[in-house]
Amino acid sequence: MDWGMKNRLSKIIKPKDGRTVMLAVDHGYFMGPTSGLEQLDSMVNPLLPYTDTLMLTRGALRNYITPTVDIPIVLRVSGGTSIIGKELLHEGTVVSIEDAIRLNASGVAYSILVGAEFERDTILGITQYIDEAERYGIPVLAVTAVGKEMKRDARYMSLASRIAAELGAHIVKTYFVSEFEKVIESCPVPVVIAGGKKQPEDEALKMAYDAIHAGAIGVDMGRNIFQSSDPISMIKAVNAIVHKNATPKEAFEIFKGKKK
Ligand code: R5P
Repeated sequence: MDWGMKNRLSKIIKPKDGRTVMLAVDHGYFMGPTSGLEQLDSMVNPLLPYTDTLMLTRGALRNYITPTVDIPIVLRVSGGTSIIGKELLHEGTVVSIEDAIRLNASGVAYSILVGAEFERDTILGITQYIDEAERYGIPVLAVTAVGKEMKRDARYMSLASRIAAELGAHIVKTYFVSEFEKVIESCPVPVVIAGGKKQPEDEALKMAYDAIHAGAIGVDMGRNIFQSSDPISMIKAVNAIVHKNATPKEAFEIFKGKKK
């Protein structure tokens, strides 16, 4: 692995503990004005002190985030469909590697739809992007196991995550499921979990804790943070789980503002 690739990875995954709190606010690329992100800048800016890496689209980056901000960016580079279209998440490349470099991305994110009718398109799309990104030392985060019909169990998550890693992804993002250790054991690259739909805060914190303790290196969480009744307290609590080994109970106390 070359120096640039390692350096960018160390911006995304903090070398002090090998973990990361990634804040996912890229939902607009297929969901439009997602609840909580209508004014993306006023939601995201107060969360940045507790965020290691920000995952978003180039449009959101250009329009809502000041270039002087000190936060590593994982840029969403796949897309092409919407929640009202016929082929949800039948994605291809929507941002060139040159633009990702121009925007000074520390990494890029690309979704693959293993098991969907159009899996081949998304898998060939990511592999082509990995070839281009590796030319410039830019890590690719594979977003796996998305899509409504996907059976979310350890067997499927292991399959999707391992395929992403075998094809050259540098980080895999997937959903937390029971027996998550099996997903981690069979995936040779770091794994982060998506948050998924908004849940009660204590349940989302327990999920983050269980994922970390099963071997995930962090979270790439969106709705469970920005749709929380208190997003700042929620990201502080998630950060405590990821970086300070807080228990779900301790983290929930942080969320409620009862613990520093
Ligand atoms: C989905 O493909 C997007 O990358 C989202 O950013 C991702 O699902 C994480 O967000 P959430 O925690 O809201 O599921």
